[in-house]
Amino acid sequence: MSNCTGSDGVGPEAPVGIVATGSYLPEKILTNADLVDMVDTSDEWITTRTGIRERHIAAADQATSDLAARAAERALSQAGLTAVDLDLIIVATITPDMFFPSTACFVQKHLGASRAACFDLQAACSGFIFALETARRMIEGGGFRNALVIGAEKLSGITDWTDRSTCVLFGDGAGAAILTRSHDAHAILKTVMASDGNLSHLLNLPGGGSRNPTSEQTLHDRLHYLKMAGREVFKYAVGSMLNASNEALKQSGVKIDDIACIIPHQANLRIVQAIGQRLGAPVEKYYLNLDRCGNMSAASVPVALDEAAAAGRLKRGDLVLLMAFGGGFTWGASIIKW
Ligand code: ACO
Repeated sequence: MSNCTGSDGVGPEAPVGIVATGSYLPEKILTNADLVDMVDTSDEWITTRTGIRERHIAAADQATSDLAARAAERALSQAGLTAVDLDLIIVATITPDMFFPSTACFVQKHLGASRAACFDLQAACSGFIFALETARRMIEGGGFRNALVIGAEKLSGITDWTDRSTCVLFGDGAGAAILTRSHDAHAILKTVMASDGNLSHLLNLPGGGSRNPTSEQTLHDRLHYLKMAGREVFKYAVGSMLNASNEALKQSGVKIDDIACIIPHQANLRIVQAIGQRLGAPVEKYYLNLDRCGNMSAASVPVALDEAAAAGRLKRGDLVLLMAFGGGFTWGASIIKW
């Protein structure tokens, strides 16, 4: 990756894109065999229904910002930047350290990014794509030069470990990307974003907010845990990610055959296979880590992006398709020229 602080390759006509990525997964691994001891399930059910074999779980004293900061440090080091070079930090998360201040402010404190404006963005599993596009437009609009965009989650904290229909799905982790305007950057060519709040009841965390403030009753009813109507979500996830991907391809004039690597939200192998068939892209084009990481919501796409880059799956000039779907519902797709 190039150093983006220099003037080389920077000009008004240079595109805004990614100059570095980083990721962090907590040390502790929870396997399907471990889950068999916790709920009425089996490795066979989890593997065949989801493709997930294990997931990383944050330590009790690790908050989302701690995971995010570790991923950010790796991205900064790869970019050859220091924290004070950042003028924008956006954290996409549904598991903030606190309601407020933002997790991005905690990341700022951890890194010492004293010049950065910081805020969180909440679009569930689509959060990283939404944040990437927000940062891109803020840099394009002027006034911001180097943006740190992070997807980070400690989903283990909102998982009901007695509910077998959800607790087998999720994991913790963080992925980061640094955006700047440079000819050396991996340009973000097109991003499509969409939402449908009419379907918010199918995937949510109902307790603790202004609708159902925390009370003995909400705790008793376990409303402080994530709820999901899996079968319905599955259906919408396939259709929505497919539509967003096709729209991003159409708007950018790119054909699916020209895409070298597809990085989908890592919720379920069957979702990826269903999209793959309809999109007309062979399975070898997908970078998948859901067998090792499970669904990390907003962290899924950036962790996979960082891993794919580190594994040499993304060559300069390759066209990369990101796609995601999550609670809200929200969904989106991005095409990046690596
Ligand atoms: N072990 C064993 N059996 C189980 C388990 C388990 N862990 N979980 C559910 N079952 C049972 C159910 O009780 C049900 O039994 P029944 O037929 O006797 O009633 C049966 O398995 C089938 O349940 P379904 O929910 O229909 O199973 P499905 O094949 O739909 O798989 C899953 C469930 C994996 C959740 C799937 O629906 C899915 O992946 N949905 C999409 C998730 C997603 O994409 N989320 C995206 C966003 S996440 C976010 O935004 C935070």
